Amino acid sequence: MVFPTHRPRRLRRSALMRDLVRETVLTPDDFIYPLFVQEVSDRPEPIESMPGQMRHTIDSLKAEAEAAAEDGVKAVLLFGIPEVKDEDGSQAYADDGIVQRAVRALKHEKLPQVVFCDVCMCEYTSHGHCGRIRDGDVDNDPSLELLARTAVSQARAGADVVAPSDMMDGRVDAIRQALDEKGFEQVAILSYAAKYASAFYGPFREAAGSAPQFGDRLSYQMDPANVREALKEVEADIDEGADMVMVKPALSYLDVISQVRDMTDLPLAAYNVSGEYAMVEFAAKAGALDRERIIREVLLSIKRAGADLILTYHAREAARWSRIG
Ligand code: PBG
Repeated sequence: MVFPTHRPRRLRRSALMRDLVRETVLTPDDFIYPLFVQEVSDRPEPIESMPGQMRHTIDSLKAEAEAAAEDGVKAVLLFGIPEVKDEDGSQAYADDGIVQRAVRALKHEKLPQVVFCDVCMCEYTSHGHCGRIRDGDVDNDPSLELLARTAVSQARAGADVVAPSDMMDGRVDAIRQALDEKGFEQVAILSYAAKYASAFYGPFREAAGSAPQFGDRLSYQMDPANVREALKEVEADIDEGADMVMVKPALSYLDVISQVRDMTDLPLAAYNVSGEYAMVEFAAKAGALDRERIIREVLLSIKRAGADLILTYHAREAARWSRIG
């Protein structure tokens, strides 16, 4: 079908017509709102590299989660920033650790919100790596026990979903077994299945004080050049019992999202990470672009690529805009 019989512009003539033929629609059900909670200060602290985001206290976290629920956000994902870090990241699995206390506080509020907890060691270890160190590298198998303990303690505190972001081999299996053994067979796992060694995590590492103190994460997070390897990672995590899988970051990896979408029917999440957020916020501050339109376009592109769920620091606004009525 060619011009002049075919004229694609016929379907773009009015807003009503465009509404009718739109293929992708954002709704508040799409968003998970990542939040930082700290015990270092008794005041919420702004995160300079992520304008508009805070390192919360438990009180300000409760207020933020409640405000987000009013905006229509149905899920939050928690990151903890402990006062004390040590070699094995023991505050990650302490029953009175910052995240565990935060989950209990949120659950006490009975908000209509699913609570996800990030499972990783890097915010809790003195060296800033995502597991136990041996000979200058992260030792995979002994790290699994630390991760499993962390997930169990989060489940015990009331987490609905645990989300391992460490990229150790076999961690989904280790976490599933540990949860089941302790009677938490109903707690779901969202695995950061294809997580790349990305410079887009820069602002997050400033926020969480989790930058590696030596070396980098290239021996465990994925090489940004690879996509077939992402499919292998996703397949492994599904076999090990992941209930949902994630691609991270989102924007430079839309092709990965799309290919993972084609290989699995499990719910697929994508993480619109801190550096992607910072680019939008700082460019908007400089007057270089229309902030609101950019946010919509970014989120739409991630969903169009195939994500069912989007982790985004813009969740509150996006939920407000995408509410019907
Ligand atoms: C912890 C973790 C990171 C992020 C989520 N979980 C940082 C990292 O791997 O260095 C990044 C989130 C973001 O940048 O918004 N491993």
